[in-house]
Parts: sequence; structure tokens; C-alpha cells
Amino acid sequence: MFKINDNFCKLPASYLFSEVARRLAKFKEEHPDKEIIRMGIGDVTRPICPAAIEALHRAADDQACAERFHGYGPEQGYPFLTERIADIDFRARGIEISADEIFVSDGAKSDSGNIGDILSISDKIAVTDPVYPVYIDTNVMAGRAGELGADGRWSGIEYLPCTADNNFIPALPSGNPDVIYLCYPNNPTGTTLTRTQLKQWVDYALEHGSLILFDAAYEAYITETDVPHSIFEIEGARRCAIEFRSFSKTAGFTGLRCGYTVVPKDLYGVDSKGERVSLNHLWNRRQTTKFNGASYVIQRAAEALYTPEGRQQVAENVAYYMRNASLLLNGLRQQGIMAVGGVNSPYIWLKTPEGITSWQFFDKLLNECLVAGTPGVGFGPSGEGYFRLTAFNTHEATIEAVKRIHDLKM
Ligand code: MLT
Repeated sequence: MFKINDNFCKLPASYLFSEVARRLAKFKEEHPDKEIIRMGIGDVTRPICPAAIEALHRAADDQACAERFHGYGPEQGYPFLTERIADIDFRARGIEISADEIFVSDGAKSDSGNIGDILSISDKIAVTDPVYPVYIDTNVMAGRAGELGADGRWSGIEYLPCTADNNFIPALPSGNPDVIYLCYPNNPTGTTLTRTQLKQWVDYALEHGSLILFDAAYEAYITETDVPHSIFEIEGARRCAIEFRSFSKTAGFTGLRCGYTVVPKDLYGVDSKGERVSLNHLWNRRQTTKFNGASYVIQRAAEALYTPEGRQQVAENVAYYMRNASLLLNGLRQQGIMAVGGVNSPYIWLKTPEGITSWQFFDKLLNECLVAGTPGVGFGPSGEGYFRLTAFNTHEATIEAVKRIHDLKM
């Protein structure tokens, strides 16, 4: 009989957001007449902006015409998009990133999971805790995580707690990890690192020969000037970091699927013989074998986000969600609930009332307010006693949710 990858059997029964969705579906089945306000998974509610929709229509028409038809495209992404990204997301901010360091994909989730393909199984991993579950689960699948302990921690992973005790700022690792996952603005806590704080991580990585996998999916939500939009704003990061970006939360591409990964040409790892190997080369090799590129139509839509109209429309989307974020943040704080995030991020991270666990709060909020969020412990052991709400619902639903939470008996 053939064998399966045993590592998958080590995983918890379901992925965090699938578990939340399962519980919500069950609740809905039992209470079909009740309307839930969904603030759980970070899915957007605003439609895709007009500039991208027009580009989608034009690109669909291209596919109907022999002269403009596009079949297989470059696995790395079309230059019409990678050049725009390099110019507008990086060079305009004074960051030197070239088009051939950008790899367009179907999203940051896939890339942040797939990147492990080009790393050694023996690499030691560090994550901030709580953390976006994809980083942990994909390392479990690869066999890098070790065993799951009774405390909810994997033996092969170094956890860097981020709680109210340290203002949600992780301490530098002590276990000498080879690979460090950082996500800033942070999912799930919505907190940030300043440029000075991020520099300490880059310096650490350069000194210890570690790789930083930097997830910048929420950079468009940054409002404060001392918060870096890209790790490549920090000197030396080109030699120690890979960055993931997404169009999901800015332009509403959660369903269309498009993102990109920046792998600088100055970034080298070593093979088992100690020889230096370019990660840009390896990732290119991986993508050309396993991926045929994001679809032409979707890439045309992404390109349209870089036009003046597209940029304006994306900025309006972000402002819409940030208005929700500040409503949520202020509403919770007025109630005396400790909450962070929401200033440079669409996520609000709140402390559950004394003695109530994350999942108990999930049930309480769902049953008493018909509001769905995500239990903090689902993002890691240090998330116990916390809860995440997203600002991605409509303005009206957000106002209603704040009102309902206000009436909650704690
Ligand atoms: C989240 O809710 O954390 C995100 O929607 C997950 C994702 O982007 O995959």
C-alpha cells in the first residue's frame, strides 16, 4: 500500500478559519432566522474597484481575439505588472527592487506556504506568537515543526510571545533560528514595528545568518510615518529577507487571487556542502516548474490598480475599512475593553473579559450579539485570552456590531 506524508496527520483536525466557518455554519443551521455580523476571517466586503473591473473586461475581450489572445505567460508574471510594482511599490519609496526580483502569484498565502520548498528541512523556525497559522501549518506539513506539545507549541518551533506584557513587541529569538517569520502590520494583533525596531531584526538576521520571511500583506493600512511599508526600507534587508505582498485586502482580490513575492538577487543561502546559492534563482526554478503564472486577465486587473484612478480607488477602499477600524477600536475602549491594532491595520485585537477563554468569548459574542470574530488562541498559545475582529465588514454592520458589543453583559 502506498504511504502518505505522515506530517499531515500531525496537524490539528482543521485549519483555523475552516473551524470558525464550520461553527458558524452549525449556528446558522440551528438558528436560520438569525443574521450574523461576520468579523472573523479577514475577507473584504467592498466590490472590486472600477479600474480593475474595466481592465478585467478588456482582458477578457483580448482572450476572445486571435491577435490579443494570451496563453501561457511568464511564470514570474508579465512585465507590464512587475515593472509597475517595482516602480510604484518600491522605487517611488526610494527602495531599489528590480522587476526580475518580483514574482507574481495567486496570493501571499500560497507563496508564504510554498517558500518552504526551497529551504532545508533542517532549518530551525521562529514565529511570533500569536501568528498567521499558515506559517506553522506549512512547516508541520514539511516536517520541520517537530511534535505538538500539550501546551499547544510545536517542539521544533521557537515561539516569540507578543502579549500586553511586552506591548505586543516580540523579543529577539534566543534559539538561533535559521528562518524567522515576521508579519507587519501584524496579523492577528494589528500592531506594528517601527523602522528602528525592524532594523534590530535585520541586524539580528545578518549577524546570525537567518532568513526573514516578511509578510507585508497589510502595508497599505499603515498611517504612521515611522512604520516601514517594506522590509527593504531597512539597510541590509536585501541580504536577509523575502517579502510577500497581496492585492486581497487593498483591492478586494480575495476571490480574484493575486499577490507577489520579492526575492532579492543579493539573497544567498548555503547548500549542504556549504556552497552559496541564490534564493532568487531557486525560487525562479521552483515557480517555473510548479506554477504557470497568475492568469493574464487577473494580472491586467492588478496592473490597473497602479493607474492614477486605480490608486485613488484603492486608497478609498482602505480609508473605508480604516473608518470601521477606528469605530471598533474606540467603541471597545469606551467600554473599558483593552484593544490594540486598528491604527495601521484592519485588525483589532482585544482582551477577553477576566476568566473567559478565547473560544468561550467566541460563543458568547455569537450567541449574545450575533457577531462572529476569531478566537485569539487559534493563532497560537499566546493568543489565549484574546480575540480578533476585522474592520472588513460594511460601515453599517460595523456600527451595529459596536452597538451590540456595547450591550454585552461581561
Ligand atoms: C485572516 O483572516 O487572517 C486572513 O483573511 C487570512 C488570509 O488572508 O489568508
